[in-house]
Amino acid sequence: MDHGARVAIKQLFKLQEPQANVCVKGWVRSVRRGKGVAFITLNDGSCLASLQIVLNPELENYEAASKVGTGACLAIVGQVVASPAAGQDWEMQAQDIEIIGAADDDYPLQKKRHSFEYLRTIAHLRPRSNTFGAVFRLRSALAFAVHKFFQERGFIYVQTPIITANDCEGAGEMFRVSSLDPLNPPKNEGKVDWSEDFFGERTGLTVSGQLQGELFATAFSDIYTFGPTFRAENSNTSRHAAEFWMIEPEIAFADLGANCQLGEDFLRYLVVYALEHCQEDLDFFNQHIEKGLRDKLESLAQAEFRTISYTEAVAQLQKSGQSFEFPVEWGQDLQSEHERYLTEKIFSGPVFVTDYPKQIKAFYMRMNDDNQTVAAMDLLVPRVGEIIGGSQREERYDILQNRMAEQGIAADDLDWYLDIRRWGTCPHAGFGLGFERLLMYLTGMENIRDVIPFPRTPGHAHF
Ligand code: 4AD
Ligand code: MG
Repeated sequence: MDHGARVAIKQLFKLQEPQANVCVKGWVRSVRRGKGVAFITLNDGSCLASLQIVLNPELENYEAASKVGTGACLAIVGQVVASPAAGQDWEMQAQDIEIIGAADDDYPLQKKRHSFEYLRTIAHLRPRSNTFGAVFRLRSALAFAVHKFFQERGFIYVQTPIITANDCEGAGEMFRVSSLDPLNPPKNEGKVDWSEDFFGERTGLTVSGQLQGELFATAFSDIYTFGPTFRAENSNTSRHAAEFWMIEPEIAFADLGANCQLGEDFLRYLVVYALEHCQEDLDFFNQHIEKGLRDKLESLAQAEFRTISYTEAVAQLQKSGQSFEFPVEWGQDLQSEHERYLTEKIFSGPVFVTDYPKQIKAFYMRMNDDNQTVAAMDLLVPRVGEIIGGSQREERYDILQNRMAEQGIAADDLDWYLDIRRWGTCPHAGFGLGFERLLMYLTGMENIRDVIPFPRTPGHAHF
């Protein structure tokens, strides 16, 4: 069989007139055999829709081809003709079919609707389902949009290290990276001697590229990172993954207000990008995953983002009369039930919460004049809760030193971070957007495990 050039099914659906000798390749979604005719739906992942292939008994290998299993991989040369069936413009009359890879009949993705829990157990096959096809096409498009947004604005993309010796968020949730023999590590006074390790000190997988991002912001003014980050927190929730992707812009000559504005512009841009470039997949989510999703996204594109201080948010939650599992108390971190109540019930839309108590936030956040709160911001959105976390950074050398000492962070470990405050320090700010949280928001998918190709969560790293 002369395959000729393979045409993506997405391109084929854009044809303006019938065409002969078109070659498509893909995976069988379903097979139907009628009297003297058989139908195969073929999907190649280029778009949600599958192509209907019509098989006539004149085909040389009609018997074999009309009996292929769901999941088989086929190459087909045929004639693209107008389809009499509803919901599709084109179908293909097969002239030649090659079975590239047969599929046994225990192929687990049969036509019935499977639960997402089940599909997670077959993560090697779930990209071939409608839902996950749509999720991962959208993920790809949005990754491109992230770069587009920043590149259009002159931001420099910096690749910060994945292996690092410092714990940016200071919560001790790093995965250790070591080449020492776990059974017999070198010891010094009864403790593991990390100076003997590969890097000569204790290292782990990064929880955030921010600290290195700040170094680049004080050279390039506007930078962003976009890469994997890792957290060894043992929280088995639908919104936490042990490995997730984060986008972290860092801007020099900027305060908290400018930071919130950038976050708002960024989120709006991504939502509009999805609405404009991922229509077919969004329609699918709108219909099958979250009813009203499209309206929600369209209204976010227009919405005014609100801002409320932490102190005011606590007051509003306390007087709401709502009974929460965790009490609301000034000085305690907001729990996700509180965050969702704020964004879903009180504001019915995106809201920035700013100026948190210093004791619940990281050492690098800029101290406010009240000496009690820091210039932090979290952006909360309905259903997902916190989607962005950021702050203005402490650019004053002495105050930063004090904050580090207060939190027990050794100045020696972060000498390079402190140096920036000695040589040309400037006000600067930044934030992190969790890429999977964004995708949950855009798709309506309720579990973070279902928007990342191969999720890493406690107990799960098989695929
Ligand atoms: O609020 P976080 O911890 O902030 C930072 O890491 C800062 N260094 C960012 C910065 O200022 N440059 O994380 C930022 C965002 C959260 O708002 C959330 O969207 C996402 O990252 N995130 C997670 N996503 C999935 N799984 C987890 N375990 C996450 N932890 C945080
Ligand atoms: Mg946070």
